[in-house]
Amino acid sequence: MEFTRFGKKMTSNAGILSLMDDLGKATAPGSKPLIMMGVGNPGQVPEFQEIIRQEFLAIGNDQQRFQQLISGYAPPQGERAFIDGLADLLRKEQGWDIGPENICLTNGSQTAFFMLFNLFAGILTDGRRKKICLPLAPEYIGYADLGIFDDMFVSTKPDIELQQGGFFKYHIDFEKLEIGDDIGAVCISRPTNPTGNVVTDAELARLADLTAERNIPLIIDSAYGLPFPGMVYVEAEPFWNDNLILCFSLSKLGLPSLRTGIIVANKEVVEALTAMNAIISLTPTSFAPVLARNLVMNGEITALSRDLIQPFYRKKMEKAVAAVRDQFADIPCRIHKPEGAMFLWLWFEGLPVTSLELYYILKENGVLVVSGHYFFPGLSEEWRHKDECIRVTYSQSDDEMQRGLAIIAHVVRRIYSEDSGKKE
Ligand SMILES: Cc1ncc(COP(=O)(O)O)c(C=O)c1O
Repeated sequence: MEFTRFGKKMTSNAGILSLMDDLGKATAPGSKPLIMMGVGNPGQVPEFQEIIRQEFLAIGNDQQRFQQLISGYAPPQGERAFIDGLADLLRKEQGWDIGPENICLTNGSQTAFFMLFNLFAGILTDGRRKKICLPLAPEYIGYADLGIFDDMFVSTKPDIELQQGGFFKYHIDFEKLEIGDDIGAVCISRPTNPTGNVVTDAELARLADLTAERNIPLIIDSAYGLPFPGMVYVEAEPFWNDNLILCFSLSKLGLPSLRTGIIVANKEVVEALTAMNAIISLTPTSFAPVLARNLVMNGEITALSRDLIQPFYRKKMEKAVAAVRDQFADIPCRIHKPEGAMFLWLWFEGLPVTSLELYYILKENGVLVVSGHYFFPGLSEEWRHKDECIRVTYSQSDDEMQRGLAIIAHVVRRIYSEDSGKKE
């Protein structure tokens, strides 16, 4: 068999593949038990699951709704009643001037990024090449291999603000950020995976102005953001205008297996995504839209995000930070200020091994994390910092989180002390 360049690119050793592979192997029957602090699986929120379970049972008892759930292709833009309900909700609650023509569903937001990036970057009909600008590295590992063509991303090193209490925060370095003619769109995740950063409203407004001036879209990945699932622990305002493409997902709310992404954008972008949906998958799934329709229609989706999901993850974040403070007190470890999402981004300054080596050592010791070096797509310059960070997820049970962090602290402490032993 001979694979095309596209085939080779899509089957190569991608970071996201190894991450999802880790998940599969670690959960396979008979596998060695590992503490999973790597993947971005949402936590088990019993109250949310009960609401969904009750809705599922109600649908199962209603012939007509059950038929809608399983037996019918939705239009390629996505299940209409869900889209109508969501447009109403966003108009009413956020004051956004949008209608159903501004919303398209996709099979997970990951698929939406594949479509969007290849819509705006690659080779134009007149031969010019365009790229996607990621204005703040580090950025989501899942973007890195989405380009049909190589070299899809350019990224900029962040400003690092050292904060009290062993925290730090990345900021966009607007002095160095270049958005030239070769940029087709700018994209940022907010909250950011892997760091839990929430770029400030001012930074976002500046990005929105820069992109609008250049007549290119600003894609805001709100997989963890506002108004749902709302995993944001600082003041931040969601906003929309015609030049923004907002990407939401039902995954982190607690429905990752139902693969539902939601794009809010201008009509031209929605029409393009609708066409791509039809070509790639005929239609996006209507399972989650039918199951979650009532949550959207009655506004419960935002209320639950605010009153249940956000406090659930905030508490976990606080426990994780306390555990790091407790276990890593004698280790040079800084935490990126955890402002959102469900990750701690740990920076071990001067780590004697690379973060990838650390990943393998930790795996041997029974804990899976993600090596930080994967999260710098588009940043080709040498920078030791890229190999000094790891991402740990805190969505699992408190007990696993505590045990996992204790193992990481033990291993990292040993690595530092063996290295200082060598130097003496
Ligand atoms: C920042 C970010 N964007 C997008 C996605 C894709 O999520 P999904 O395809 O489940 O909607 C993820 C998944 O972890 C993510 O972390």
